[in-house]
Amino acid sequence: EKGGHDYFMLKEIAEQPQAVADTLLGRLTPRGQLRLDEMRLSDDELREIDKIIIIACGSAFYAGLTAKYAIEHWTRIPCEVELSSEFRYRDPILNRSTLVIAISQSGETMDTLMALRHAREQRARVLAICNTNGSTIPRESDAVLYTHAGPEVGVAATKTFLTQVVACYLIGLYLAQVRESKFGDEVAAEVDQLDRMPQAVEQALGTMEQIRSLARELATAKSVLFIGRHVGYPVALEGALKLKELAYMHAEAFAAGELKHGPIALIEEDLPVVVVVPPRGRDVLHDKIVSNVQEIRARGARTIVLAEEGDESVTPYADVLISLPKVPTLLQPLVATVPLQIFACELAMARGNDVDQPRNLAKSVTVE
Ligand code: BG6
Repeated sequence: EKGGHDYFMLKEIAEQPQAVADTLLGRLTPRGQLRLDEMRLSDDELREIDKIIIIACGSAFYAGLTAKYAIEHWTRIPCEVELSSEFRYRDPILNRSTLVIAISQSGETMDTLMALRHAREQRARVLAICNTNGSTIPRESDAVLYTHAGPEVGVAATKTFLTQVVACYLIGLYLAQVRESKFGDEVAAEVDQLDRMPQAVEQALGTMEQIRSLARELATAKSVLFIGRHVGYPVALEGALKLKELAYMHAEAFAAGELKHGPIALIEEDLPVVVVVPPRGRDVLHDKIVSNVQEIRARGARTIVLAEEGDESVTPYADVLISLPKVPTLLQPLVATVPLQIFACELAMARGNDVDQPRNLAKSVTVE
């Protein structure tokens, strides 16, 4: 049942190209338009939205953080992302024109369920992104967009994370299409790029062997830092979370621009630092992060750099260079997360941990 893999998680990592393809299936039209019949919110209702709040926990929260960059860019609707467990205790400002997007793989996470009930009491519209048909969160929402990742057995989210990002992107592009936002004309080009993602994710799986030997070398490391910028920042957060969950290692992620405001004090000889470098298209950010890599390396840290294939600017400062397929910046999280999942999984195995059932964790947490 593990399809020849030692762990469900490895099987689920390998299934990601298919999971992404299945989540796109039937939702893209040949003319580069989106069809989201299941949205059950009318075009008029979608046009009234003036604020989006994404609520979620764990990896789903990082999928939401990633989506914020794309949704705001495409729709020009302000988008906040908040942990479900914090949301309803701070008296959030909600009304009829607020769209709350609740992301949950299981559809049963109590923190998210309580947050969505609070949102509905304040008359916000709630749209669920969920992987489990008929679960509580979609039943209590105004509409649902299912991720079609298939069952995920490993406790740590992998293919559901990627498909949550895809589902959020579909919603963002759909809103841009319906509202004819400034960006509306470009929807077709983005849809086309999204359609190519299963192959790109497949290519990212090609980093497996390289990461495996890296993980063996780092099995006794005390701590690993992750840095990224723009959508690479939530990728860094997700990479650090995977490492905590599976390898029980201290791991922290920072926005690369914050490094100089504190965390750089942590950099010391041999500390592994994983850096997510954006595609060269975004020159300013790309160059800034390359100088971060340089600074970190100069302080003796061991730099593990994820960068677009053919990007030679980082080669002199990378102890390990992991090549990512060439994709647009906003889609890079779908490929950059993959080696980080493998990294956490392999490190956990090298340390003798049960990857599918990490200690103290449950697949779905139905208490607050
Ligand atoms: C945690 C799981 O308890 O819940 C994570 O260990 C998951 O993997 C998080 O991301 C949120 O779960 P769900 O089902 O609401 O997406």
